[in-house]
Amino acid sequence: MRIYRAKDYSDLSRKAANIISAQVIMKPNCVLGLATGSTPVGAYRQLVEWYRKGDLDFSEVTTVNLDEYRGISRENKQSYYYFMNENLFSQVNIHKTRTFLPDGMEEDARKACADYNQIIHSLGGVDLQLLGLGHNGHIGFNEPGIAFETETHCVNLTERTIKANMRFFLSEKDVPRQAYTMGIKTIMSARKILMVVSGEDKADILEEAFFGPVTPSVPASILQLHGDVTLVADEASLRKCKDRI
Ligand code: GLP
Repeated sequence: MRIYRAKDYSDLSRKAANIISAQVIMKPNCVLGLATGSTPVGAYRQLVEWYRKGDLDFSEVTTVNLDEYRGISRENKQSYYYFMNENLFSQVNIHKTRTFLPDGMEEDARKACADYNQIIHSLGGVDLQLLGLGHNGHIGFNEPGIAFETETHCVNLTERTIKANMRFFLSEKDVPRQAYTMGIKTIMSARKILMVVSGEDKADILEEAFFGPVTPSVPASILQLHGDVTLVADEASLRKCKDRI
């Protein structure tokens, strides 16, 4: 595992964007696994800036996102589709037909998940998977206790995740209770993984995930067993890992 210590959030965003852009430059027709949440927003902004300058070309890139809320349409401002469109897809020259997320409006959960697995398999897997880290160690929406052997599946969000994501909704009751998410097995199949972590409030879980035991109760801890993981984290979130890196 490589750990890049960033001075602050903008340094983190630039470093992460550099790694993503290197992937796109080295393999223009790559498959990028993308993530939502607040942490990757700065990296997306930086990628858009480089695209506008003419330094990046997304015309051959395909993307698959980690997750989507169940029961929320693409037009809904809280959907992850809307988020990706706002923050990246509509700002660069990516072909919309090559941007994939689980279909939140598919009521048949088994079908939604099987279809998404099929898309990922048919693309030949993910070249670079971007990840954030939930306060309880979740990646995508793989909450604590999840079996490491799962592919895309439907999850019940934990109270903690519902509360953490409440900031994007009008009230707690508006936060969906379920989501479709790539599983740990899907994430671990990516050829490279890039995790971005920011803020003091992630310091405890970051230490547990990367230096604690590998256990389903901290889903991100499985990343210790992946052969090509890069962590880009700011000083605040690395506070408890100082003596270890
Ligand atoms: C959500 C997403 C995750 C993300 C996490 C952390 O639960 N499903 O993919 O990593 O939030 O988000 P943030 O970066 O806002 O802390």
